[in-house]
Amino acid sequence: MRIGILCRDATLHGVRRISECGRRRKHRVRVLDPYRFLLKLSEGEISLEFRGKPFPGADVYLPRLGANISEHSLALIRHLEASGALVVNNARAIETARDKLRTLQLLAQEGLPVPKTAFAPDPAYLRAALGSVGGAPVVMKLPRGTQGKGVMRARDVEEAQAISEVMWNLQRDAIVQEYVEEARRGDLRIIVVGGEVAAAVRRRASRDEFRTNLHRGGSVRKITPTRRASELAKSAAELCGLEIAGVDLLETKRGPLVLEVNAAPGFEGVERAGGPEVAPVILDHVERRFEEWKKKKG
Ligand SMILES: Nc1ncnc2c1ncn2[C@@H]1O[C@H](COP(=O)(O)OP(=O)(O)O)[C@@H](O)[C@H]1O
Ligand SMILES: [Mg+2]
Repeated sequence: MRIGILCRDATLHGVRRISECGRRRKHRVRVLDPYRFLLKLSEGEISLEFRGKPFPGADVYLPRLGANISEHSLALIRHLEASGALVVNNARAIETARDKLRTLQLLAQEGLPVPKTAFAPDPAYLRAALGSVGGAPVVMKLPRGTQGKGVMRARDVEEAQAISEVMWNLQRDAIVQEYVEEARRGDLRIIVVGGEVAAAVRRRASRDEFRTNLHRGGSVRKITPTRRASELAKSAAELCGLEIAGVDLLETKRGPLVLEVNAAPGFEGVERAGGPEVAPVILDHVERRFEEWKKKKG
C-alpha cells in the first residue's frame, strides 16, 4: 500500500509512529507537506502537482493536520477525494472537528451531553451569553484553537468582558462555556479508531493551570474508561464522521460531557502513560479500509 501522510512537520511524534509502523509492514510511506501541492482542475479532470512536478499519487492518505488546518489543505483533501483516492479522515469530518462550535451543535442536536455553550454576535450580548451558561466563572475559547491555546477562564463578568472586547477588537470570535470546576481533577482523552476505543488516558492539569493539555504541562495516566464514557466517545466520533478521533470528555457529577473532538489526535500522552500503541491500530484500520475500497472499485 502506498500511504501518503499529509502533515507540515515530519518529526511530529504521531507522524513518526505511523510512518515507522507502516514501513515495518512493508508499506511505502511518504510524508507530504500540503503546502507543496498545486491543485489543478479542468473539465472532467482533477490533478495535482507536488513540488512543481506531476504527482503520481498514493493509495491512501492520512491527514495529520490540527484544527488550524488551512483552507488550502482542506481543498487538497477534497481534491484527493475527488480524484478517487481513499482519505482517512475525510474532509467533511475534519471540517466538522476543527470547529468546536460546529462539533457541539452536531452533538447537542443528537442529544449527546455537552457543556452549556453560547456564541454571542458581539460584546453587547456577553451578559446574556454568561447568563445562559449559568454565570461566571466561564471558559471562553476560540472555536479553532488547539493544545489549550485560545482557551481562557474568566472568573467574573469583568474578566469575561475584557476578554470579549480584546477578541472583538482582534476580529476573532470566542465561544462562552460553563466552567466545569470538577474537570480540574482531570479530563479524559479517548482515542477512537474505526468505531472502537484504541486507548484512553486521564489528563490532569499542572499547578496554576486549569487546562489539562500535554502542551500546557498536563500529566497523563492510563485508564480503562467506563462503558458510558466509551460509548459517548464512539458516538461523538461517529457523528462527526471521524474514523480516527481523539475525544475529550469532562467528568462531572452529571456524568461525562463531550468537550471536543480532534481529527488528528497525538499519541504521545498515551505512550507516556504506558498505554497501548495506537499506530498499529490505525494501520490495521487503514489496511482494512483499503481492502474494502479496492473491492468497491473492482
Ligand atoms: N468548559 C470547560 N470547563 C473546564 N475546563 C475546560 C473547559 N473547556 C476546556 N477546559 C480545559 O481546557 C482544556 C483545553 O480545552 P479544549 O476545548 O479541549 O481545547 P483544545 O483544542 O485547545 O484542547 C481541556 O482539556 C480542559 O482541561
Ligand atoms: Mg482538547
